[in-house]
Amino acid sequence: AGPNFKLNTGATIPAIGLGTWQSKPGEVKDAVEYALKEVGYRHIDCAWAYGNEKEVGAGIRASGVPRSEVFITSKLWCTYHRKVEECLNQTLANLGVDYLDLYLIHWPVPLNPNGNDPVFPKLSDGTRDIDWEWSIKDTWKQMEAVYKQGKVKAIGVSNFSEKKLEEILPTAEVVPAVNQLEIHLWNPQHKLMDYLKSKDILPQAYSPLGSTNSPMLKDDDVVQYAEKYGLQPADILLGYLIAKDIVALPKSVTPARIKSNFTGALAAASKLTKEDIAKLDAVAPGGKQKRFIAPPWGVDLGFENWP
Ligand code: A2P
Repeated sequence: AGPNFKLNTGATIPAIGLGTWQSKPGEVKDAVEYALKEVGYRHIDCAWAYGNEKEVGAGIRASGVPRSEVFITSKLWCTYHRKVEECLNQTLANLGVDYLDLYLIHWPVPLNPNGNDPVFPKLSDGTRDIDWEWSIKDTWKQMEAVYKQGKVKAIGVSNFSEKKLEEILPTAEVVPAVNQLEIHLWNPQHKLMDYLKSKDILPQAYSPLGSTNSPMLKDDDVVQYAEKYGLQPADILLGYLIAKDIVALPKSVTPARIKSNFTGALAAASKLTKEDIAKLDAVAPGGKQKRFIAPPWGVDLGFENWP
């Protein structure tokens, strides 16, 4: 087991979790089983919309690791902002568990629950079918309700800018425990990280390696530190986040990578010095600030560098 961080609920959360977005049914069961049983991961990041939660659940069971030792996160899909408990119940049934450790609003974008598609309803002009009548303040109220019922041990958000958080915080009874975002060397969002810290909201990084075929693995500074410390570029990218108290959620279905992402990230987090971190912090403003994941929602999410 690796290092843990603390949530504002008092619960501990492992600093590294296995990402499962784009892990195909047929690959993800083995990946989850391997990560838990052979490597020591104790944290799996899921979502209703990934369409693979049944296989993830099968992988957790196949690992033999007790449910109580695994931190499981899932996310409310956009077409369920009006019916949080219904989406949650589907996720619990798919995973085959009776509670989650953490449940997140996947995007601050309610989509029409009765549109032409259950996942990505679109209007006739091809744009997203937004549920304009619904307020995310009320989504958060429903998140608080399932939290109070005990079906989830913590609640949080994902893809929320400061502007979107300010839409829910004034009426929130429970402060989100986490905000899961695209955070990495080329999109560090330093201002948003400072804001989250001031509110005691833990940041979690998805696509910490830069997603598929990432050019970040060839970043000059990353390659230099990898050589200097005898590690791989991916280790440097992950260790950089963990050293900054950001949860890293690397996705892989390749056993060797699942393993090296865990052990290498921890090695990098302990080897990178304060000076190294300061140097890496300054990489992005040098013209590299870049997102790899930016769906065309058709609403202003309030991020500084949304393309
Ligand atoms: P695969 O799942 O085929 O192993 P991210 O977590 O930023 O979304 O990145 C996931 C992508 O990076 C996937 O395509 C994954 O491939 C690949 N990947 C995961 N770990 C490594 C690694 N250690 N080195 C290179 N590529 C990796």
